[in-house]
Amino acid sequence: MTRHLISSADLTRADVEDILETASSMHDLQRREVKKVPTLRGRTIINFFFEDSTRTRSSFEIAGKWMSADTINLSAKGSSTSKGESLRDTAMTVDAMAVDALVIRHNASGACHQVAQWVRCSVINAGDGTHEHPTQALLDAYTLRTRLGDLDGKHVVIVGDLTHSRVFRSNVITLKTLGARVTVVAPPTLMPSGIGAWSEADGFATSWDLDPVLEGRGEHGPVDAVMMLRVQRERMSGGFFPTAREYTVGYGLTRDRLETLVARNRDVLVLHPGPMNRGLEIAPEAADSAQSVVLDQVSAGVAVRMAVLYHLLAGDDSSVASSHAPPPTHAATEGAAR
Ligand code: CP
Repeated sequence: MTRHLISSADLTRADVEDILETASSMHDLQRREVKKVPTLRGRTIINFFFEDSTRTRSSFEIAGKWMSADTINLSAKGSSTSKGESLRDTAMTVDAMAVDALVIRHNASGACHQVAQWVRCSVINAGDGTHEHPTQALLDAYTLRTRLGDLDGKHVVIVGDLTHSRVFRSNVITLKTLGARVTVVAPPTLMPSGIGAWSEADGFATSWDLDPVLEGRGEHGPVDAVMMLRVQRERMSGGFFPTAREYTVGYGLTRDRLETLVARNRDVLVLHPGPMNRGLEIAPEAADSAQSVVLDQVSAGVAVRMAVLYHLLAGDDSSVASSHAPPPTHAATEGAAR
């Protein structure tokens, strides 16, 4: 049976809990002097990154290596993609080498879903366009659970460039799967179309106004964690906000806002998936504060990706579901299949 991780919606609560429990054992391993285990000996994993990455690519490579898999990194530049080879031909070519998993980052939403139709090996979505980034959501959940315990009823606020964020989409799904309360905040220009119907169906709140949410006013209630999202200028074709300064004033986690949060809950957590635009969506004082778990997220990334590889390549068949169709609003573009 072909087994993939394309969307956070592929995972039931039991799947997520299994993966996070495995990640906890993997995290213990990470603290040992000798980190290598033979779990995936004889398995081959290709990390194919058509978009830049520091955290995801290196953590998948480390995860595979620590589990004794043979890992190979490919990027668009330096592969035959740069000579015009289609995604389909490239995917089928590496699959023909009898690899066990293809970890893919691609700029087209739905690209991983497409590839999964063409290959025999497992496909893991390492971020596809503005669609999803399921392993990021898992590592964020792991980080939150390590600090907050069970996420049932915990209030997580996600702030920023929602329109271009695959991290936000996967996080809402995984956090809701784990029973958290979620509020998402963005300027109207960066609030995705269709979010009203989605938020009603999945039971999360939306707001254009950050301060009342951070202050826990009205129906919002006290905040347990704030996840700041990167302003993705590389995906913006027009002006989504007047100036960087105005964005920061309205939606940045400034020193003053951090003080407000801490005054209400001294254990509040600050997350950011990275890379951070310091001084734009997050002030250095917040990024480097005692509340910040940004580096914990990075550390969890290796353990969680080891757990995902384990469940897909060596684990229990029932641990990851096979349904992975992207939502219709994020269907693969022509470019993905070319
Ligand atoms: N969070 C994240 O995906 O970071 P990278 O782009 O560095 O992989």
